[in-house]
Amino acid sequence: MTDAVNKIEQPREPTRRDFLYICTGMATLVGSAAFLWPFIDGMQPSADVAALAAVEIDISLIEPGHRITIKWRGKPVFIVHRTDAMVAQAREDDGNPDLIDPITDGERAPRPEWLILVGVCTHLGCIPLGQKDSDPRGPYGGWFCPCHGSIYDTSGRVRKGPAPRNLQVPPYAFLEDGRIRIG
Ligand code: FES
Repeated sequence: MTDAVNKIEQPREPTRRDFLYICTGMATLVGSAAFLWPFIDGMQPSADVAALAAVEIDISLIEPGHRITIKWRGKPVFIVHRTDAMVAQAREDDGNPDLIDPITDGERAPRPEWLILVGVCTHLGCIPLGQKDSDPRGPYGGWFCPCHGSIYDTSGRVRKGPAPRNLQVPPYAFLEDGRIRIG
């Protein structure tokens, strides 16, 4: 496993452009929410507002190996532009009998280079570490939840408990102009 982990390309430090990009994405989210809120809030309970919420993010400038976090329905969503090594490692383990919540990487990431996850640990709801280059990511190169030690791989599949399930893949769609819609 150590060799496989070592094959993963180390993403470079986030640049100012990445930061600006994230701010732009968040501004889109805030703008959309601000526009929709007066219309919806007067008609429907808050649960319906949550059900309608969607965000669009421009992912065209996220370089391979970079991970960004956006907010959707009050939760962090991890967007990862995976390197070939990350994809290869995830797919290598597709048939691993030790998977706690078995599923293939292809089912979780139909476009292999893009992995979209709700960044909430399926144990008790902590936010796993791994989005920053300096974060611990565990032996599978994915995410590490410091609360009780759950470890996720480069597909967001739980590889070591106590989390019982993989990180959730939210509903999303690729749009034509290098953007994705989440929700
Ligand atoms: Fe993540 Fe407990 S909340 S391991």
